[in-house]
Amino acid sequence: MSESRIFVDRSKLSSRYIPNELHHREKEMSLLQTMFKDSYIKPDEFVFLTPHIVGRSGIGKTSTILKFSSMLENEFKKSGLTLKVAYINLKLQGGNKYAVYRFLLEKIAPELPSQGLSAEEMLRYLLSYLYENKLYILIILDEIEFLLRSSKDSGIIYDFTRLNEFDLSRHCNVIGVIFIARSTEFHDKIDSSELSTLGRLPIEFQPYSIEQISDILVTRSSESFNPNVVGTDIIDEVSLFTTSSQIGGDVRYALDLLLYAGNLAEVNGGDRITLDQIRKAHGYNHPSITIQDLKELPKNHLLTLMAILKVQNRRKKQYIELKEVRNFALELASEYKIKKFEFEDYMNDLLDRKIIEMKSLKEIGMNITSLAELEPLLEQQINKK
Ligand SMILES: Nc1ncnc2c1ncn2[C@@H]1O[C@H](COP(=O)(O)OP(=O)(O)OP(=O)(O)O)[C@@H](O)[C@H]1O
Ligand SMILES: [Mg+2]
Repeated sequence: MSESRIFVDRSKLSSRYIPNELHHREKEMSLLQTMFKDSYIKPDEFVFLTPHIVGRSGIGKTSTILKFSSMLENEFKKSGLTLKVAYINLKLQGGNKYAVYRFLLEKIAPELPSQGLSAEEMLRYLLSYLYENKLYILIILDEIEFLLRSSKDSGIIYDFTRLNEFDLSRHCNVIGVIFIARSTEFHDKIDSSELSTLGRLPIEFQPYSIEQISDILVTRSSESFNPNVVGTDIIDEVSLFTTSSQIGGDVRYALDLLLYAGNLAEVNGGDRITLDQIRKAHGYNHPSITIQDLKELPKNHLLTLMAILKVQNRRKKQYIELKEVRNFALELASEYKIKKFEFEDYMNDLLDRKIIEMKSLKEIGMNITSLAELEPLLEQQINKK
């Protein structure tokens, strides 16, 4: 493969990559470290904690917690103990409480059978397995609004905040459950006993300022691009777009812009990213779908999106009739030889993810400015799955 003039390592722009340094989250990090300090110093006296983290999309909640959890793992190791971290993303894992517990059990104790057990039995097994094997665990439940919205099964918060009361005869080796959400809206959906064990006071992550975003982007660019590919003019422009009210400080968006513009620069044979390319990428990207979204969506969802695009193109307007989209989607599904196609479910999911919006019960729309550029990308992802 020939060397890129633009990129050193594209994958460092992915939102899955956790950078070595997380600028401007030092305060949050040290707060968590203080809270959990005794968990490895006096593990058998430590009473488990259930902090919940709240803040807008793309401002480093998941990254900070994952980074914190690997630091904690290290501290445990240094004290001669073993901490396991179970990260559960409810948007990706979906499903109900049962599915979450099974995932947890399979991850921590793969040799234990989870088939045929009730949710409560699974938790019991997990706790005694940890105790008998002298293992400690930190559970991270990310994007909790998704569980509540999709299954109305709010008992999971109740269970997880009271893990230490499950078996009073022995110590609970779960040192904590960290809940992460975009806002405190989910407080309205859980009952007051759950809210009271969870605590009404979240740890709030504030959005980054424009200067903080620039700092972050300078570091992230230096890991991903060749020197001089991204000038200060580019950093300034991307930071400005990113802090606009539309984007709301979402760093993931900034990284996507840089990746997209970098690809444009490469295709054009340039050796640096231009302001024009950034503006083009911004026009294409904003607001509601990212390349990462496309990669994460299952095939049937992508076909549903494709149907929306095609009908929008045909009608040349933003809002289109649901009926027409349904017919088109079913045609596409049979073209791709898909037998079971639950159109309504995919639509609901796209609505939940805010990729599409509903104007009325019969009309839907998508907030994409440049449809023509989305289509080939979508097609590419569909054919990959
Ligand atoms: N301080 C930072 N330094 C470097 N990169 C950062 C920083 N904060 C966020 N990022 C990057 O921005 C992207 C989004 O961050 P993250 O996934 O942690 O956001 P989030 O708050 O969990 O968002 P969401 O609510 O949408 O899940 C990631 O690629 C992450 O690496
Ligand atoms: Mg997150």
